[in-house]
Amino acid sequence: MRKIKLINLIFVLLGVFLFGACEYATIQPDAPPPPPPPGDSTSYSLKVQPIFNSGCTVCHSGATAPDLREGKSYQSLMDNNMVVANNPAGSILYTCMQPGGVMASYSNATKNATIYNWILEGAKNN
Ligand code: HEC
Repeated sequence: MRKIKLINLIFVLLGVFLFGACEYATIQPDAPPPPPPPGDSTSYSLKVQPIFNSGCTVCHSGATAPDLREGKSYQSLMDNNMVVANNPAGSILYTCMQPGGVMASYSNATKNATIYNWILEGAKNN
């Protein structure tokens, strides 16, 4: 009787360890950032364009679409259908900057959150 109990205990412990190992091996995708507080507005000129200036215009300066230079970027993003207002997940600009996206290595979570909020708020040229 005692021996059976001990074997059961060993199996339970083994199960816990194996289950734990599986959980840690899973790669969790980045959860989308929380929506901005009501009334908060992410300014294109003050928050979004600086992201392009510091990490994108080195390549996106006319020849490679979208043109992300100051004064050109908004029109270029719209002309190339890379932004769908109020729909970050449907916007190439946002999805290509996400982990796994083609432009992911030039962005980070903070920049992605700014782009996310700006698109969610209507992608205004503000
Ligand atoms: C080292 C050069 C380089 C940098 C830096 C760079 N890009 Fe790109 N980007 C490219 C090239 C080349 C393409 C077109 C080929 C491709 O899709 O891989 C491209 C494509 C894109 C596209 C279109 C993707 C598509 O699926 O059509 C978007 C949007 C974009 N880049 C945004 C950005 C943003 C935003 C940044 C800065 C955070 C950035 N890129 C930084 C070179 C660059």
